[in-house]
Amino acid sequence: MFRSIFAVAALSLAASPALAADGGQLFNMQCKMCHTGGPMGPSLTGVAGAKIASKEFNYSPALKGKSGTWTDANLDAFLKAPAQFAPGTRMMVSVPSEENRAAIIAYLKTLK
Ligand code: HEC
Repeated sequence: MFRSIFAVAALSLAASPALAADGGQLFNMQCKMCHTGGPMGPSLTGVAGAKIASKEFNYSPALKGKSGTWTDANLDAFLKAPAQFAPGTRMMVSVPSEENRAAIIAYLKTLK
């Protein structure tokens, strides 16, 4: 019960600029070092809503083999447990906190 209320609150917050700003800070600390579009990780510009593994990048067969797009739910599942979402993925970093995932996803949507 409490959990579902929290999930709704987190989702409605996902559109808030303050949340995206928090997400930007988390992104700079936890993600940016790899996600500059270099050999360490694909660029995440426009990733929200994009087809999974569709950038110029040498993806793992695991991620390349996923169909679908980066919906909020898919981003959330991937960031929560990358190896569960795409067993064999080369992204090892996870974000255990539901709140932090919501903030990061809100920020990813601003990367256009
Ligand atoms: C140590 C380097 C590294 C860090 C840190 C990292 N990633 Fe990744 N990320 C990768 C790699 C490598 C891939 C491609 C994985 C594959 O091909 O299996 C990836 C893939 C992704 C994708 C899918 C991109 C696509 O084009 O389909 C998303 C979304 C993503 N990462 C988000 C994040 C977020 C958000 C963070 C911070 C919480 C983060 N990553 C931190 C290396 C990293």
